[in-house]
Amino acid sequence: MTWEELEHAAAACTRCPLYETRTNPVFGVGVRDAGVMFVGEGPGENEDLQGEPFVGRGGQLLDIMLKIIDLDRHKNIYIANIVKCRPPHNRDPLNTEQEACIGWLRAQMELIRPKIVVCLGRIAAQVLIKPDFKISREHGQFFDVGGVQYTALYHPAALLRDPRKKPDTFVDLKNLQEKIRELSPETYGARN
Ligand code: URA
Repeated sequence: MTWEELEHAAAACTRCPLYETRTNPVFGVGVRDAGVMFVGEGPGENEDLQGEPFVGRGGQLLDIMLKIIDLDRHKNIYIANIVKCRPPHNRDPLNTEQEACIGWLRAQMELIRPKIVVCLGRIAAQVLIKPDFKISREHGQFFDVGGVQYTALYHPAALLRDPRKKPDTFVDLKNLQEKIRELSPETYGARN
């Protein structure tokens, strides 16, 4: 499937009831052959209105975090979510909704073939790394999943709620930058 076919098919998806209440599907944003992919949980109110991931307050913080390690959603990474449609009232996506939607993310990953996947928050980490992932204990660690390196950061919304988590995230970001230099140097413009 091409990107255009995939995006069209995802926009017409009725595999779970979330399509009935959303304004726009939020497919993803960024560079389609990025070496590094970020995955959040699901769209919030602003994302639903604009059709782009992480554009609210959490998104502004995410952009600042990315900038610290020379990443930019329009230049060298791709950002998507576990579910493409907004859960009403910003509740967590249900397991049934995650299961119905995950095929779209897997198809995106097959096209992008990232070397590093960064989960934003517990929900993405539990889906993509392991069901019993403990974000407070395992954030910043790297896990090999089928030859791809996965890690998780605290969700930007969690950092806004509890700024005491920010120093840990700064360390995680610097370690992520090292990992990117090692496994995906082209992310920083080095093409061998
Ligand atoms: N939170 C997420 O997990 N994803 C978004 O796109 C926005 C907020």
